[in-house]
Amino acid sequence: MINNKKTYKIVTLGCKVNAYEADAIAENFKALGLHEAHEDEPVDIALINTCSVTSTSDQKSRQHIRKLVNKHPNATIVVMGCYSQINQNLAEEIPDIDVVVGTSNRHKITQLIEEHYETGTQVIDVDKDSRSFTYEELKYSSLTNHARAYLKIQDGCDNFCTFCIIPLTRGRLRSRQPEEVIKEAKDLVSKGYKEIVLTGIHTGGYGRDFPTYSFTKLVKDILESCPNLYSLRISSIEENEITDELIELMKNDDRMAHHLHIPLQAGSDTILKKMNRHYDTQQFIEKIDRIRTFIPDIAITTDVIVGFPGENDALFQQTIATIKRVNFAELHVFPYSVRTRTPAARMNDQIDPQVKKERVRSLLELSDTLKNQYYAKFSGRRLQVLVENYDREKQSYFGHTSNYILVEIKSKEDITHKVVEVEYNYNTVSII
Ligand code: F3S
Repeated sequence: MINNKKTYKIVTLGCKVNAYEADAIAENFKALGLHEAHEDEPVDIALINTCSVTSTSDQKSRQHIRKLVNKHPNATIVVMGCYSQINQNLAEEIPDIDVVVGTSNRHKITQLIEEHYETGTQVIDVDKDSRSFTYEELKYSSLTNHARAYLKIQDGCDNFCTFCIIPLTRGRLRSRQPEEVIKEAKDLVSKGYKEIVLTGIHTGGYGRDFPTYSFTKLVKDILESCPNLYSLRISSIEENEITDELIELMKNDDRMAHHLHIPLQAGSDTILKKMNRHYDTQQFIEKIDRIRTFIPDIAITTDVIVGFPGENDALFQQTIATIKRVNFAELHVFPYSVRTRTPAARMNDQIDPQVKKERVRSLLELSDTLKNQYYAKFSGRRLQVLVENYDREKQSYFGHTSNYILVEIKSKEDITHKVVEVEYNYNTVSII
């Protein structure tokens, strides 16, 4: 019986959605009386939430599963997530795994573990047809003590970018019921969370599967239902999902974080087309300009993939030019990774790994320059900071502003999870 077990350990790889789901499972375990195993304490249930976004993620998922198996030979080994969703032979390859689910049936995990105890056999419950998945409630109720909480609002993606495996690992776009989102938001505020980050696999696509409800409406409803919320942040949104209504809302409600992460992926129209992205560079630039006319100081960050098939030097230079024109506050740079079963994997003009490496390096350098320029603009201004943690080694507190500037603060009093105002000085530590 699972109730006779005492400890669990959870490893989570991949994105914030994965972390959210792993937290939800942890809450379920806690509700059954288990506690997280301390260092060196025997582990009864070891669970891993896997990722498959790149070939390195696949490799890491396999390595971590084997590591768990070797380190905790007496534990019940449970594997879930994107890697187990699309690697149907996983349980055969690693027979020491006891329970396998993919990106559905996670709400049944404790039941499946019980089944394993009763039968003594491997229990595999991976639904093959991920495109038929419906939104799965995991009854998350966070009890952890942080300033910021991630709130999952949808799952899956229907965009089918030619490089991306996620529509296969996660299935079709499905939105969480607004009442469930709002209930959880209220719960998080009542537990003392100051900031909520709306997150999902395709966050801005929220509501597409509802006849009369939209992402912007959800944002409005959360703000209305949670008057004591300090900050609401959007984890990521596509350019064409940013409506004037949303921009107005971000401008007029102080609780909306002045930060948007808008994936560009490539700054060349040729590559954007090959990627099956649904915009061109001109459209992207116009949208950013429009946002900035309403919210001039907003931080706009992005994702860029380099070394996509066919990206020659001239096209890469176009990407650099677009990035400079948009003037992002920071870039997240990824080398293109071949994913079997995606259209881009079948394109024959693949790029040399060494070239990809060099392009990553050069964009990271550009990202540093852009970030420094953006941060420097705020030097000398008074900024509000939500303090997230205390770093013992540096003897400093760290937190972020609404526009996601990381601030280091010295303070004699404990300011963890508080909102403080500092005179921000770029290159020096702020003191209160
Ligand atoms: Fe990885 Fe799946 Fe997230 S592939 S990045 S865990 S959606």
